[in-house]
Amino acid sequence: MKNIVVLVSGGGTNLQALIDAEKSGIIQGGRITCVIASKPGVYALERAASNNISTRVIPRSEYADVAAYTKAVTEALIEEKADLVVYAGFMTILDEQIVKAFPYKMMNVHPALIPSFCGKGFYGLHVHEAALAKGVKLSGATVHFVTEVCDGGPIILQKAVPVENGDTPETLQRRIMEQAEWKILPEAVSLFCQDRIEVVDGIACIKE
Ligand code: GAR
Repeated sequence: MKNIVVLVSGGGTNLQALIDAEKSGIIQGGRITCVIASKPGVYALERAASNNISTRVIPRSEYADVAAYTKAVTEALIEEKADLVVYAGFMTILDEQIVKAFPYKMMNVHPALIPSFCGKGFYGLHVHEAALAKGVKLSGATVHFVTEVCDGGPIILQKAVPVENGDTPETLQRRIMEQAEWKILPEAVSLFCQDRIEVVDGIACIKE
């Protein structure tokens, strides 16, 4: 059984999707052993606690810079014996120290079809605002490995979702969560826990 540690910063609906997927047997070969939040009081922590998952809060505001914060998070992940680290709405930038400690062992869910609407400044509702401003007719979600390049690591799974007339950033966000994020994130986690993802020359391949 692999130890899955989930990093969160907010409401935690993707964390909830992972908890539900573990309960219903969609995630094979792993279990969520700890949830780490970048700020206190976020609802994701309540979701973890009410499912008897241990929690830690490592407040970004208590660290002087990215390097000091990354060191603290990396040490916590090592203490927790994390086999897989999932960024589930984790809104804090970490540096390369953590990538060296967990190479191709960290995945992130991004609410767009990478390489569109990704990179620095594209997070949360900003992503959907940008997609609507461009007038794209399809958006979606991507699960990818975390590397030094923001939103640039090997793509594991993607799912497209239609943009509808009259969409607001909020309605598009909700549709992408329901139809894409909450499905492909647990699926990618399960593939990882079954050792079915291989990265060859920077490309993630799913083994049958
Ligand atoms: C999700 O839409 C996730 O894809 C996005 O933030 C939301 C978090 O919601 N993440 C990013 O934008 C990261 N670049 P949640 O806390 O309810 O899971």
